[in-house]
Amino acid sequence: MGFEETAYPYTKPARRSSWRPEVKQFSQRRFRFLLRCTVAAAVTGILFLVALHRQYRHDLQEKYSATIFSNDSERRIHRSEWEASAGSLAERPIQREEWKRIGGGWEGEIFLYEDTVIKTFVTTRSPLRNCLDSSSSPTRIPTEIPATLVLGGLQDEVAEDADFLPLKGYLLAPATETEPASWLVLTPYLPSGNLQNVAMRLRSENLNHRDLDARFRPSLNRLLGALARMHGEHGLCHDDIKLSNVFVTDYLDATVSDTHWVLADFGNVREVTHPYHSSVICTRDSEQNADCRINDAVRLIKTYVTFLRLASIDTVSFDSAFWAEIEPWSELYWSAVKGARLGSGAAESFQDNSLSIAPIRSGEPTPQVEGAWSLGCLLGLPCLAQRTEEEMERGMFVTEDKARLFGATGTLLGVPTGEC
Ligand SMILES: Nc1ncnc2c1ncn2[C@@H]1O[C@H](COP(=O)(O)OP(=O)(O)O)[C@@H](O)[C@H]1O
Ligand SMILES: [Mg+2]
Repeated sequence: MGFEETAYPYTKPARRSSWRPEVKQFSQRRFRFLLRCTVAAAVTGILFLVALHRQYRHDLQEKYSATIFSNDSERRIHRSEWEASAGSLAERPIQREEWKRIGGGWEGEIFLYEDTVIKTFVTTRSPLRNCLDSSSSPTRIPTEIPATLVLGGLQDEVAEDADFLPLKGYLLAPATETEPASWLVLTPYLPSGNLQNVAMRLRSENLNHRDLDARFRPSLNRLLGALARMHGEHGLCHDDIKLSNVFVTDYLDATVSDTHWVLADFGNVREVTHPYHSSVICTRDSEQNADCRINDAVRLIKTYVTFLRLASIDTVSFDSAFWAEIEPWSELYWSAVKGARLGSGAAESFQDNSLSIAPIRSGEPTPQVEGAWSLGCLLGLPCLAQRTEEEMERGMFVTEDKARLFGATGTLLGVPTGEC
């Protein structure tokens, strides 16, 4: 059969009268696609935010959960004891108008009254973590009270062989007759202040880092021993070791001044196995080691070297020696920061290390040439001093800004706390 050419004659498609419907169709499809993408992205974003929110609420709750003290320690904080202490203090008149404010910040304020330091607490910003059992109703209590009782004991003065700041007393008292009662924590006043204050005073003594290391290394060694006991015997971590939390006591008959150091500010003390230590706030957001004993020990070494730097007459030669690892104290620093560390014996091994790398007791340190680093400083680029400060501050502070933001802790939900 022949092909009939004419059966289906080719007809040229009629030209569209206008290009608009095509564009319309295309843009509608594109619009729908974009809309779907936007909705998917928004849903994913919302799910991500919800997950982040839940994660941080959970982590904050862990952070503000109670510190568990060992059985032996708990006996010391038996209710009868704190009530006795509070009772005897409550009999004294609380003359707030005579208190002198000497410090304070986020968590509360610090006042001086005669020879006693009084600490107050802002519980809306930083909730009280521990609870006291009571037959009637449980009472929330600052963790600092039981922690200081366990570590420093109840003393009117700091003993000459003390390693921890003691507690002078504690009581629940209202600021005014109309206000509800709030906790006050009382400690003996140490006029020498903390390591930061001492370092600033030492600057006028024209000492180089060798002189300073020779004078203060025994103080560090003693504190490392105290930290090892805190970790080993009590199973507790300080969790907030820094210059302003190491206090200095002075005795009139002390041969070398400012050398008796005590650990203080036990508001962040937690047991080694506390869940907070492995939280995102601690590990991912703040570069902390999940073993709090390593953090404590490394932070104590960092605190010491920062103290030497602040007190030193020549920061340039200090910084060069720091990076060159040529002085005993810089060797000690880098071996603590870079070396292998076993959590359970971190403080003890650093103490052994410090004893084996004794300070150089005499001689002027060789001045180091700063070279290209100083040029960087002049040009506004990262220079030696800045790099040194950054290195020393790394891992020294825990930040919960992100947790508070995503955990919506502001006026909306507040900071989550566990049950009493
Ligand atoms: N007993 C004290 N003697 C001398 N100074 C103190 C005493 N207690 C606190 N201070 C000063 O107040 C600062 C803050 O006290 P601290 O106990 O560390 O509370 P915070 O929780 O606010 O850090 C300290 O760094 C120190 O300078
Ligand atoms: Mg403090």
